[in-house]
Amino acid sequence: MENKWQSLESAAGMPIARDVSLRRYSSLGIGGYAAGAVTVETVASLEKILGSAESLGIAVKILGGGTNVVFSDSGYPGLLVRLGEGFKKIEIQQTRVRAGAAVHLTALITRCMEVGLGGVEKLAGIPGTLGGAIFQNSGARDYETGRAIASVTCWDMAERRLRELKKEEIRFGYRTSCFHLMPAVILSAEMDLQPAPRESLMAEVSARMKYRNSTQPAGRSIGCIFKNAEGRSAGQMIEEAGLKGRRIGGLVISDLHGNFFLNDNRATFKDFEDLVAMVRTEVKNKFGILLELEVEVVRENPTSANTEGGPVCGSQNRGSEAVRENVEHRPPRRWKISGEGNFI
Ligand code: EPU
Repeated sequence: MENKWQSLESAAGMPIARDVSLRRYSSLGIGGYAAGAVTVETVASLEKILGSAESLGIAVKILGGGTNVVFSDSGYPGLLVRLGEGFKKIEIQQTRVRAGAAVHLTALITRCMEVGLGGVEKLAGIPGTLGGAIFQNSGARDYETGRAIASVTCWDMAERRLRELKKEEIRFGYRTSCFHLMPAVILSAEMDLQPAPRESLMAEVSARMKYRNSTQPAGRSIGCIFKNAEGRSAGQMIEEAGLKGRRIGGLVISDLHGNFFLNDNRATFKDFEDLVAMVRTEVKNKFGILLELEVEVVRENPTSANTEGGPVCGSQNRGSEAVRENVEHRPPRRWKISGEGNFI
């Protein structure tokens, strides 16, 4: 096992962090350890690490801001790959904006606001990176990331080449895109925005932030747990089922918004699974609607050598619980030190 990771380091020519706590890489703050993790700064290094991992039979999970991913306590036995500073550029030419996938949405919105370009301000308050927001077509009720996107450049893992996908090819839907089915790493996106007065952009951002702050709880959460269904708000159904404030272990359903679970820092993945199951049962009993997870759940490593850009196991594909060793308290052996490959 050890040799495999050493071989990966030599083949890819970059250091790999080992036994990285996933709690730090999911905003819900639960999860075991990733066997390996690396941050890449260039497309060439990404290509190299993906190719090397594939030939060594190491599964790969691409991670954005970790604001929509829940890891199980058994961790991730493959390699976690994040895009670093090299993917955080924002280039603006007139009304055309090209931004790297690792750019935080907040940074993108701020920059566009500064130069008087409108089209992304309605995403204000959504956490995470542009790559994650494209993958999930993140949004608020009346606006979604896909609305602002003209094209996306990605690394196609199956064809091992760069591809530019036009908006129509990305098939944005409610909290979904083609990247849920296609093994690819989102690298950057182009947006055609509209000139707009800075004051009106600022007013839009502050109204949205005000609404979010008054309707969504602060604290450790992963945003909305379930998708809205049949035109009804999942949070509202959870409230009407009388579930606000219900707790399992260290996880509690927010009193402010029923679709938010808050971690009091003691929560385990089992608490998460049990709370999800309880809510689903109660909502199904009351409304006849089976809620679907909005968050992506990464349970375990598939045994194949496949690399994957989409969910390892989402709500549609729960996977087996084959890997149940508890690595939660295993002390990290080694961390990245500096330069490319740095994974703090
Ligand atoms: N409501 C309740 N009780 C609750 C929560 C909501 O009665 O506990 C009612 C509200 O009063 C309102 C309606 O349900 O009448 C809709 O609520 P809200 O505006 O808060 O929106 P939502 O449908 O619950 C969606 C997104 C959020 C996004 C907000 C922004 C989904 C699943 N959720 O929530 O996105 O922030 O709109 O308006 O699409 C996320 O994706 O992680 C997320 C949080």
